[in-house]
Amino acid sequence: MKIFYFTATGNSLYIAKRIGGELCSIPQMLKDGTSEFEDEEIGFIFPCYGFAPPRIVMNFIQKSKFKANYFFAVMTYGNKAASGLGYMEKIGKQAGIRFNYTNEVLMIDNYLPVFKIEDQLNKENSKKTEEKLEKIVSDIKNKKNELAKKGVVSDALSKAIPKLITKIHLNEGDKRFIVGDNCNSCKVCEKVCPINNIKVNRKPEYLHQCEGCFACIHHCPQTAIHFKFERSNTRFINRNVKLKEIIDANNQSNTRS
Ligand SMILES: Cc1cc2nc3c(=O)[nH]c(=O)nc-3n(C[C@H](O)[C@H](O)[C@H](O)COP(=O)(O)O)c2cc1C
Repeated sequence: MKIFYFTATGNSLYIAKRIGGELCSIPQMLKDGTSEFEDEEIGFIFPCYGFAPPRIVMNFIQKSKFKANYFFAVMTYGNKAASGLGYMEKIGKQAGIRFNYTNEVLMIDNYLPVFKIEDQLNKENSKKTEEKLEKIVSDIKNKKNELAKKGVVSDALSKAIPKLITKIHLNEGDKRFIVGDNCNSCKVCEKVCPINNIKVNRKPEYLHQCEGCFACIHHCPQTAIHFKFERSNTRFINRNVKLKEIIDANNQSNTRS
């Protein structure tokens, strides 16, 4: 089994690790340029961004060819997933993938403009992440055939909101990042960026190709990077994932971890 994953703060990587198989980071696959993949089972694990899969995940699927007898997708989210998995099904179909199984897992929401991480951590038990995850692990092991189904309101949200997220966060969205004077040029931001959008000279300089994942903000050891409209300055990394794993998954620069 091959699992292709994308993660900014570790939630999706944690789910990938629990499901098991050969874990392949989407940013590294794109960097290597390998584009044909075959296995008995192939899965995709990624966060929900604006009720849809992240652009980098869609780009990877559109650029690659996949051959498997069982395809699955698991989306992590923090509050409302709407029809993000339906969106993924459509992208898959265009690339010749017919998903057998899709499901979503409620986890800590790392979207700083709306949520405070401290509040999210207080609510963690009520999200019942482990219960849902155990079901998903068992479903995939048993090669269950079932697609997540949502109603018309969710479908409408997943049609309208991704465009808004693109406008706010992608590419020049990094113009809304503020770097404080406590930056010590450690380059962690450069190393966790999945698309090489940051060059650190004295301070990080953003190249306006942003994916809007907030990895640079969450992992800055000095909390020196801020989103202009963040609700608090508490940051997040999934407790089952280490910073080095995020760097190994995302690093595109020549700076080693
Ligand atoms: C730009 C952005 C948009 C997001 N949009 C949504 C959303 O529409 N719905 C939701 O429930 N969570 C949303 N989130 C929260 C993440 O999907 C959630 O925290 C996810 O588990 C993070 O996964 P990761 O740790 O693997 O990066 C968003 C996060 C970011 C950074």
